[in-house]
Amino acid sequence: MGVLPEFRKDPAAFLEKVARQYGDVVYLPLGRQHIYYVGHPDAIRDILVTHQNKFKKSRMLERARVLLGDGLLTSEGQHHRRQRRLVQPAFHRDRLAGYGAAMADRAAILRDQWKSEQPIDVLQEMMRLTLAIVAKTLFSTDVDPEADEIGSALTQVFDLFEVILMPFSEILEKLPLPAVRRFKRARKRLDETIYRLIAERRARGDDTGDLLSMLLLAQDEEGSGGMTDEQVRDEALTLFLAGHETTADALTWVWYLLSQNPEAEAAFHAELDRVLAGRLPTFDDLPQLRFAESVFAETLRLYPPAWGIGRRALEDYPVGDVLIPARSVVLMSPYVVHRDPRWFGDPLVFRPERWLADDPARPKFAYFPFGGGARVCIGERFAWMEGTLLLAAIGQRWRLRLEPGHRVGTHARITLRPKHGMRMIPERR
Ligand code: HEM
Repeated sequence: MGVLPEFRKDPAAFLEKVARQYGDVVYLPLGRQHIYYVGHPDAIRDILVTHQNKFKKSRMLERARVLLGDGLLTSEGQHHRRQRRLVQPAFHRDRLAGYGAAMADRAAILRDQWKSEQPIDVLQEMMRLTLAIVAKTLFSTDVDPEADEIGSALTQVFDLFEVILMPFSEILEKLPLPAVRRFKRARKRLDETIYRLIAERRARGDDTGDLLSMLLLAQDEEGSGGMTDEQVRDEALTLFLAGHETTADALTWVWYLLSQNPEAEAAFHAELDRVLAGRLPTFDDLPQLRFAESVFAETLRLYPPAWGIGRRALEDYPVGDVLIPARSVVLMSPYVVHRDPRWFGDPLVFRPERWLADDPARPKFAYFPFGGGARVCIGERFAWMEGTLLLAAIGQRWRLRLEPGHRVGTHARITLRPKHGMRMIPERR
């Protein structure tokens, strides 16, 4: 068993402890797996970028194929490169500008539902918001009922998804367990809706400005045509899954951190009032919302939703004087590296100003909330824009206070979630 029990209890905290105690390359005896923690930014850059061909993704994502098929997150090699080329245009700058309005509008709807002094679970609220946004940007503004339908089927599938990612799930999946049956039913319902939308959109043949249109219109430069319906389905679901929970976690941590740091909160509010003067933020305001963006950046430093990034070595691979044997899993953790005093002064202090100027002495991979190399997050720019616009739209109207007595802890599973949700009390500004 090795250190498995301790690792499972709180993997992010465990890795942090191990890294501080043993340094930048640590062998972790975790059951039958050979796992190496790698924590130096230069070694991380080499694994994610320079020598990326010597690695593939690790098992957890391979398991995600049950739901995501051969989408961007789960595919490898040649197929991944082709899909990446086909999906990339959906995230071009002019496309993103079009999504900005949907983001601000959804935030405005949510902020109008809150009532002064009535506690809310901010994690749930942020999940609803980012799910609605990804549904809207993916499946367009004119299909609201379907977006809701997909939203609810998705929530069900994702809730059950954790079961599928558990150890021994290959066996679990074949048993007639209620959770497995529910998962399969929800997945079927989801597939039916998505395939219907694809068929309708193919029949119309026009570009409605959303991600689905881009996926359907994408054509390979090499002339091998576009994507099949099944590929479009896999990519759409992948974007749904990858594109909502990460951002919702990050936003939840933002509201918590602001509530604990009144000076940063005041500077944030001052910027919103100065730049927006009461109107909803738009894509064009982004260059002026530097402090809001820095609040988001600093939150991604302290609470990176993708807290651990894994790779499997395809051949023996040296890191410093340690030889990592082929087939071992290499684990890198933005959570641990971002809290390393070698790269960030007062690493546990929330200080958004550190992002207002570059620090040329800091190695590039001392901060990597979106990964790096060929597998870098395709939604990175989407996420920066969404994070900043949602913060601005909500922060204009509300200040959130932590509910007295609410316990705050981290829960590092697929993403880094607040362990007990985040009960907060909105105060009208
Ligand atoms: C704060 C928000 C987000 C964070 C922290 C985040 C983080 C990451 C990270 C670290 C990876 C790389 C994982 C690895 O190398 O193993 C990744 C991949 C990915 N992300 Fe994000 N992400 C965020 C938002 C989004 C959004 C909004 C979308 C889509 C709308 C998205 C779609 C994807 C996809 C499709 C991949 C797989 C890319 C590939 O392998 O080619 N992410 N994300």
